[in-house]
Amino acid sequence: MIQRIRGTNDVLGDDAQAFAMLEATAKRIVERAGYSRIETPAFEATELFARGVGASTDIVQKEMYTIPEDGITLRPEGTAPVCRAYLEHGMHKLPQPVKLWYLSSFFRRERPQKGRYRQFWQIGAEVIGPPSAGSESPLRDAEVIEMLATLLNELGIEGWKLEINSVGSAGDRARYVAALREALAPVKHQMCEDNQRRAETNPLRVLDSKDPNDQEIINNLPKIADFLDAESTENFRQVLAALDACGVPYTVNPRLVRGLDYYTRTTFEFTHGGLGAQNALLGGGRYDGLSEALGGPKTPGIGFAMGEDRLILTLEAETAKQASLADAYVAPMGEGLNAPALELARELRRSGLRVELGDGSFRLKKSFEMGHKLARKIVLLGEDEQQSGILTVKDFASGEQVKVPRAELASRLKSI
Ligand code: HAM
Repeated sequence: MIQRIRGTNDVLGDDAQAFAMLEATAKRIVERAGYSRIETPAFEATELFARGVGASTDIVQKEMYTIPEDGITLRPEGTAPVCRAYLEHGMHKLPQPVKLWYLSSFFRRERPQKGRYRQFWQIGAEVIGPPSAGSESPLRDAEVIEMLATLLNELGIEGWKLEINSVGSAGDRARYVAALREALAPVKHQMCEDNQRRAETNPLRVLDSKDPNDQEIINNLPKIADFLDAESTENFRQVLAALDACGVPYTVNPRLVRGLDYYTRTTFEFTHGGLGAQNALLGGGRYDGLSEALGGPKTPGIGFAMGEDRLILTLEAETAKQASLADAYVAPMGEGLNAPALELARELRRSGLRVELGDGSFRLKKSFEMGHKLARKIVLLGEDEQQSGILTVKDFASGEQVKVPRAELASRLKSI
């Protein structure tokens, strides 16, 4: 019987429903930020990716599905095609910057594993325009990143992490790459075969390497932050300040250079621990020189693409986590309340609820931490609650805190 090709997926059943939910939520959020839909062809001239993504990147060197005699390639990513469409259709005549989003499948001949496929889906968006339209402003970077944080939160994905870095201007990069080459020259022979090749052809790509044996060497390589000029440093400071101002948490990761050569200045990734080795939910960054690399005028841009397949895996991991949680965590507020708390836990368990019991010796903060790990809600039992018979219940997901009479507690815990 013929089966599907390894690294490809049929989208059906629960996954199809999850795809539909993701797509509807993403559409609502990007359209509300002013993006319009674009779809580009599934294949393009091979040269578009060689010039856009970079001839010495892993994607172009090893991962493209190409028909050499026709000079065409199945698209491995969406940014170079969208930039090509911007130039080809004279979109500079539209109000600027132009904001476009896409939802398409892409093709990379990678080694298949959980979260890494040969055909995969991305929801992506790009903001492109001339410098006169403010397309270079650090505010654009923060606006895109804030929208993504909102999207992940609205999808109910908890525990994402934002990593961010600046890879500097083309000039900063050239000086950094020269320093990397120099630092790699005496040690590269100790590295894996791929990294030996990258050290020659494209030293930045060594920083992306996950090879466990090479990590020590990589950690000791020079850091890009030391090669940024005053303008790039100030630009990055402003991006981070804008994120601080809108309360988006991040970690600066000096090794985050990303696997595509078009990036300049801000690069970022949102990761999730539930994904295992392929932990990037989405990635993006600024590409101020891409248009020129494709033969167009200076037209800076910034964008992102999120892996839909990986979002689905994360939602499944979240659902599994939710399913493993107890309905309530009963927290006695003091050792004198241990016995009444046990009594309350017994009462709730008898009504069919799954209940975890804390200990009166825990401080309030520790009770909340333990409760959050073990249950969906926490029930506080202090002296006041014990005397009044009115208990305090907090729902960890919504953050909502309510007072509930003891007689109604079991039914409320089932329904809230
Ligand atoms: P990328 O980091 O290559 O960036 O891919 C973005 C996201 O697509 C990844 O974080 C991941 O979730 C998903 N993805 C990539 N490869 C695979 C795969 N083999 N299987 C499953 N999911 C995958 C780009 O593609 C850039 N065009 C993003 C961008 C837009 N930068 C600026 N604008």
